[in-house]
Amino acid sequence: MSNVVVVGTQWGDEGKGKIVDLLTENADLVVRFQGGNNAGHTLVVGEKTFILHLIPSGILHPGKVCLIGNGVVLDPEVFCRELDALAARGVDVGPERIVISPKTHVIMPYHKVLDKLREEKRTGEKIGTTGRGIGPCYEDKAARVGVRAGDFRSKNLLRAKIEHALAEKNALFTHFFGGQALKVDDVLDEVLESGRRLVGHLGDVSERIAETAAAGRSILFEGAQGTHLDIDHGTYPFVTSSNTVAGNVAAGAGCSPGMLGRILGIVKAYTTRVGSGPFPTELFDTVGEHLQQQGGEFGATTGRKRRCGWLDLPLLRESIRLNGVTEIVLTKLDVLSGLERIRICTGYALDGRELRYPPQGEGLLAEVQPIYDDVPGWSEDISTATTWDDLPDAATAYIRRLEQELKVPVTILSVGPDRRQTIQRPA
Ligand code: GDP
Ligand code: IMO
Ligand code: MG
Repeated sequence: MSNVVVVGTQWGDEGKGKIVDLLTENADLVVRFQGGNNAGHTLVVGEKTFILHLIPSGILHPGKVCLIGNGVVLDPEVFCRELDALAARGVDVGPERIVISPKTHVIMPYHKVLDKLREEKRTGEKIGTTGRGIGPCYEDKAARVGVRAGDFRSKNLLRAKIEHALAEKNALFTHFFGGQALKVDDVLDEVLESGRRLVGHLGDVSERIAETAAAGRSILFEGAQGTHLDIDHGTYPFVTSSNTVAGNVAAGAGCSPGMLGRILGIVKAYTTRVGSGPFPTELFDTVGEHLQQQGGEFGATTGRKRRCGWLDLPLLRESIRLNGVTEIVLTKLDVLSGLERIRICTGYALDGRELRYPPQGEGLLAEVQPIYDDVPGWSEDISTATTWDDLPDAATAYIRRLEQELKVPVTILSVGPDRRQTIQRPA
C-alpha cells in the first residue's frame, strides 16, 4: 500500500477512526498530524468498542507504531488516561508503540479554563467548542508562548514558561472575566506527573516517517475533525483552530508533501454537525430524527446530540478540491435504510443565482437555500451486506450518482460500525 491520508470531508464524525483502524492492517506507521482531544474516534471490533481522542486509531493492531506529530495539541492528563484505559484492556501502549514529537504543543490547565470562559462570555452565537482548551493552546503556539512536550524534560524551563504565560492569563482571568487567578505551583503540580510520563514517549517523529518511507514501507496519516471545520477553509468562525485539510499533513507531521499518495475523503452518507454554525441541509423533522437515532448520532467527546441533514454536494465538491481527494470512502450507508425517499442537495440558491460550491464570504452559507434532487430509497437492512452485489439497486444507484457528481470513485463502503461491516468496491 502506498502512503494514505484519511480526512473528513464534512463537519467531522464521518467515521474516520473506523477506516483508519481498518487500513492499519496494511500500514507500518499511523500518524496524527493536527487537532487534539476534541476528536472522538469510535472503533468497534466484535464485542469490543474503543473510543479514542488522542492516540491514533491504529493502536489496536499489535506491532504497528502510532506517532503524534508536532501539529497536534496534546493534553497530558487525557493522554495518560487513554494509555491506562487501553493498557487495562490488554493493548500494548509502550513507548516503542506510541511516539510523540517534542515539538507537539501541550494543552495546559489554563487553556481549558480560557476555552470555557470565552464561550460563556461570547456575545452572539456561541461556537459550541468541546471545551478542551484546543483554541487557546493553538493561540499560544502562534503567540510563541506555548509549552511543548519536550519542555517536560526540564522542570526549570517548564516553570519559567508557566510563569510567563500566567502573567498575562491571570490578568485576563481576574480583570476581564472577573474570576480567580491561577498559581504557578498549582499549575505545575497538576501537569508534572502526566508530563513525566510523556517524556518516556518522546521521539523524532519526522525522522521515523522518513526512515519508514525510505525502507519502502507504508504510512497512514489520520486526520481529525472535517474539512468544513478547517480554521481557514471551514465555516469561520464556527470552526476548530487547526488546518484539517490534507495539505497540513506535511507541516503537522514533518514530512514531504511529495510523500502523500492516496487521499481518502471520508463521506458520511448524510451530513452531521456538532456545535453551532450554518448547516444548509439540516433537518428538523422525523427524517432528521431517523438519522439521529439510527445513526447513533451523539458526540463521542461531549455526548451532545449531533445535528443531522441530507447529503450536501456543494460542501463535498469543495472538500474534494481542497484536499485533492483521490478516493471516497462512503460510511453509514446502512443508516439510510428504511427511508422511502432520499434527498441529495445538488446546489444552493442564493439571491436568484444557483451555486455549485459554497459561497465565499462569512455568514453567506447561512443564507443559501438547498436545491434538492429526490432519489428512491430502499427498505432492506444492508448491515450484513459483504459484497457490492448484496446491495439493493437503489443503494448502488445512490453511490453511482455520487461518483458521477463528484467525479471521484467510491472505493470502500461502510455499512455498520464494526470493522467487518465494510465492503471493498470491486475495481
Ligand atoms: P470520526 O470522528 O470520524 O472517527 O467518527 P466517530 O467515531 O466520531 O463517529 C462515527 C460513529 O459512527 C461511531 O459511533 C462509529 O462507530 C459509527 N460508524 C462508523 N461507520 C459506520 C457505519 O458504516 N454504519 C453505522 N451505523 N455506524 C458507523
Ligand atoms: P472528530 O475528529 C465533530 C467542533 C466542535 C465545535 C468546533 C470547535 O471526532 O471528527 P473546538 O473544541 O475544536 O475548538 O470546537 O469544532 N468539533 C468537532 N465536531 N467532530 C470532531 O472531531 C470535532 N472537533 C471539534 O463541536 O463546533
Ligand atoms: Mg468523532
